[in-house]
This record gives sequence, structure tokens and C-alpha cells, in this order.
Amino acid sequence: YGTSKVNEQGHLEIGGQDTVKLAEKYGTPLYIYDVNLIRERARGFKQTFDRLGVPSQVAYASKAFSSIAMIQLVEEEGLSLDVVSAGELFTALAAGFPPERIHFHGNNKSIEELEMAIEEQIGCIVVDNEQELLTLSRLCQQKNKVMPILLRVTPGVEAHTHDYIVTGQEDSKFGFHLENGQAEKAMLFAGKSDGINLLGLHCHIGSQIFETTGFLLAAEKLMNKLKEWNDQFSFQAKVLNLGGGFGIRYTAEDTPLPASNYVEEIVVTVKKLAEQFGLALPEIWIEPGRSLVGDAGTTIYRVGSTKDIPNVRKYVAVDGGMSDNIRPALYSAKYDAVLANRVHDRTEEKVSIAGKCCESGDMLIWDLPLPKTTSDDLLAVFCTGAYGYAMANNYNRIQRPAVVFVEDGQDRLVIKRESLQDLIKLDLPLREAAMKK
Ligand code: LLP
Repeated sequence: YGTSKVNEQGHLEIGGQDTVKLAEKYGTPLYIYDVNLIRERARGFKQTFDRLGVPSQVAYASKAFSSIAMIQLVEEEGLSLDVVSAGELFTALAAGFPPERIHFHGNNKSIEELEMAIEEQIGCIVVDNEQELLTLSRLCQQKNKVMPILLRVTPGVEAHTHDYIVTGQEDSKFGFHLENGQAEKAMLFAGKSDGINLLGLHCHIGSQIFETTGFLLAAEKLMNKLKEWNDQFSFQAKVLNLGGGFGIRYTAEDTPLPASNYVEEIVVTVKKLAEQFGLALPEIWIEPGRSLVGDAGTTIYRVGSTKDIPNVRKYVAVDGGMSDNIRPALYSAKYDAVLANRVHDRTEEKVSIAGKCCESGDMLIWDLPLPKTTSDDLLAVFCTGAYGYAMANNYNRIQRPAVVFVEDGQDRLVIKRESLQDLIKLDLPLREAAMKK
């Protein structure tokens, strides 16, 4: 997975670093990110657009994994950034990310969030609904500012993916309905508002998508709408944003296309339709999250207790679980793993990897072939870079893990492990005695 290798001692190596040594140095569970791989993925997207000669923006969907170091890496690679909350925006600004390359998403942005975006003069707000549009317009006029926006629409395209994360279909909490006049009304309102500069349309049809069909169908629906608006209202879109959702390979069962395929097919389709409709080619924006960071992340756990139920199952427990990776419990997500300290050991048995939370559903991997484990072993779970740390939580008051970036044989701690003190830092006691040691 990713660019991981096995060194002479049979240890898993990532970014030129022995993961066993990293686990000793930083403790477990530990998130390790291969920085070169993130750079490679970022450049892959940009180069594909450049090769096809299309003006574009590749905005990293920071919900997949946001931290100051991560945002700075995104900045270095010249990408734009998608944020969805005051927290993600604050992180981006704290990292020194240029506001003009930030896009703000969300179906229920608060007044405070909108004001923050306006005051920081971010690049674009992706407006989700009528109420938001009216509020934003009013706020911009009050502050004498003009905010560039996109309208998020639901194109009625349903991508083949897990039910929980399908967002492109019409019955969705996100976006303006494309066909019942809602989107058109918003476009006409935006045209009249002094505070707003409508750049174009946005859609996001889902996540972990393996086929291009959904993207192409969505692109076609949006281009048809732009043609209609151009004919009827002389509206000219500068931007067409097709969201994120490009799938990655978590296990051997997954068969995603290389990211460049998605981009290339999208560009070809949009170009063809623009020519056919006599429209100026809009800039094409995308918002990959998972495909930029997913396979660059690996989690290292220490193996702990085991429970063998003869002829039924052997449970091997690790020192993390749904508190650092909730995806198996929430989406039945599948992962692959090896023992980081003896990758090539072939004395296999089938085990199921359990987390340490007080919940039967806290299982990380079912039926994984592994060598017989002892409590000296380290388990490396691959492809945890997206929506892993980002969805980590303190269930059972378990501390969130540390995050380390590795690149060219160098390691750098980018998120500290939470301490026990961190866990109680927001608590207020009922009485003084409660805080005594
Ligand atoms: N743009 C928008 C508007 C989105 O809602 C999302 C993801 C993205 C871009 C990035 O999608 P990606 O390229 O990462 O697929 N927690 C779930 C995934 C939720 C995705 C939410 N939206 C998971 O762990 O699978």
C-alpha cells in the first residue's frame, strides 16, 4: 500500500522510516503520513489539468484530515482548500493558508461562520440553500463587501457507494434542487444582489466512487442547465465545480481508477459540451479529500490481549479502535493490515482485530490472515489517512493518537498525542475537592 516497503529486519518502512522505531519513539496508536505520497497525488491532479490545458482549481477537502501541518503541505503544493466549518477555516488561517484560495461549504453555516468568511475575504462560498443566500447577501451589503459564490445543486445523480455518504441524489439535505426552479430562482437573485458575485455551479455526488459515469452524468446535467441559463438569461458561468469522491483502494477488493482518469474524462466531457452548446469553457474545479490523503496514512497499534473461541473465532485486541478510526463501525469499512515488526512471517491464522472500546461493534477488521501474535507485536492498518484522525473522538475518554509526517527518512510530529489532562481541560467541577489529585 502506498509507498511502504519492508526493510532488512522485516519491519514495515514508510517514507524511509522504520515504523517499529516510530512506534517506540512516539507511542501507539500512531498515525503515520507519507508526505511524498500526498505530494505525488496533489501533483497528479494538477498535472492532468495542465496537460489538458484547462484552467482549474484542485481544492483539498480538509474534512478528510485537517491539521496545521497538513494545511501547510497543501499550501506548498499550490492547491486550494475546502473548509466546512469555522473550525476548519480557523485551522487554515492559523496555518497561514491564503484566504483567497479557500472555499467554504456546508448546509447550515452559521451567521458567525458567514461573517468570518466575509471578513477574511475568502475565495468563495459554496451556497447551499435559499436562506443562506439571503443572509449572505444581506451581510455582504452591510459590510460593503462582495463575496464570490457557487450554488451547490443536487443533480439527481446517485453514485454507487455506501448509503450514508451518497449526497448527489435529489432527496438530500444538501444543495438547491436543479430542476424545480429552486436553483434558477437563486441564480436570478444572485444576479441582482450587490453583495454577491455568482461564479457558477457546484455538485458533489458522493464519496469513494470507482466509476466515471456518475461524474460525467452530473457534468452533463450542470452543463445543460448552464446552457439553459445562458439562452434565457445570458448568464455566463466562470466555474464548474464537480466536487470530490474519487475512490481509493482500501483492500484488494477495491478497484478504483487512477485519479487522472476521472479528471481526464470530466474535462473531455465538459469541453465537448461547451463546444456543442457554444459556451465559453468554464474553469473546472474539483474537491478531492480521500484520494489525496487516504493511502498516505497508516495507523500503528500495539497488540494486546487475545481471546480464542475454538472453532469460532480468535479476537486480537489493539490499543485503539473506534476512537481513532470509526469507519469500520460506522460504514462497515474494510481495511488491510500486517504486523509491522514481521511483515514477511507467513505462519498464518485468521483473526479478527478488536478495538478497546466498550462496545461489541468496535471491531477494526474481521477475518484477517496474520501470523500468530504476541503482545510485542505492532499492527499496521493501511489507508487510514482520510476520515480517520478527522473522525477520531474521545469515546470512553480514550486519548486521541499522535500524528507523524515522514518524508525522505525524516519524521516530524505534527499532532501531539492527547494527554489525560487534555481530556479534562474543559471540565468544570461541581466542587473543589473533585479536582484534587
Ligand atoms: N466536497 C464535498 C462537498 C464533500 O461533501 C466531500 C465529502 C468532499 C468534497 C470530499 O470527498 P472525498 O474526495 O473525500 O470522497 N466520512 C465518510 C466520507 C464523508 C464524505 C463527506 N463529503 C467516510 O469516512 O467515508
